[in-house]
Amino acid sequence: MAERKPPKSKYTADRQIPGAFEGETVNRRRFMTGSAHVAGAVAASAFLLPALGFALGPVFEEYPQPWQVMGTFDDFGENAYLPRTITLDPNIGDAGKSIAYLRKRNPRVDTEPADQYNRIVAVSSACMHLGCPVHYVTAAQRFICPCHGGVYDFVGKVAGGPPVRPLDRFYTLVRPDGTVLLGPRFSVNSELDRFSPRDPGEPLDGVGQFMYPSRPSLRKIPGT
Ligand code: FES
Repeated sequence: MAERKPPKSKYTADRQIPGAFEGETVNRRRFMTGSAHVAGAVAASAFLLPALGFALGPVFEEYPQPWQVMGTFDDFGENAYLPRTITLDPNIGDAGKSIAYLRKRNPRVDTEPADQYNRIVAVSSACMHLGCPVHYVTAAQRFICPCHGGVYDFVGKVAGGPPVRPLDRFYTLVRPDGTVLLGPRFSVNSELDRFSPRDPGEPLDGVGQFMYPSRPSLRKIPGT
């Protein structure tokens, strides 16, 4: 069996370090080296920690989005959208507001399965290229993005330009008295299959849905 080495003494004199004092455990060189490392770590964390917080903060942010009243079922038609102001984040005033375009589900153009959440179709106005607000042009039955020429058809699918997926949508509910409620946002692929919300610029077809997983804070769907 190999002989065990005796443990190193903590005293610098025992380890025959030049200039060691009796009873000394840390010599000046090691103290200076340690101090330099600590100072370096403090300096590095001074810019790394804020950058890390800035990058990871949005992952844990909550965007509470309760159901919002949008009018009554009879306010909306099947063949044209009505714009409605919606609140995405109530904590930041007007900056947390946006526009959604609403209409009744029309079985002639809406081929995705009908359920209680899409009797009213609610389309987000955030362009899926970089997030600019799109406008619905009634005469053309198209959503147009003024920033880089993105065009979406009547149901919100990409008809031209750089957007990577159809316009996002919102869950809606119709109360027994006819009141229309708008709920959380969800994203769709080119087949209009529902996905948890993604950010603009994140495609959802093919491997895109795996390359751009939803942020945990955005997956929360209150009330559904
Ligand atoms: S942001 Fe809409 S096309 Fe670029």
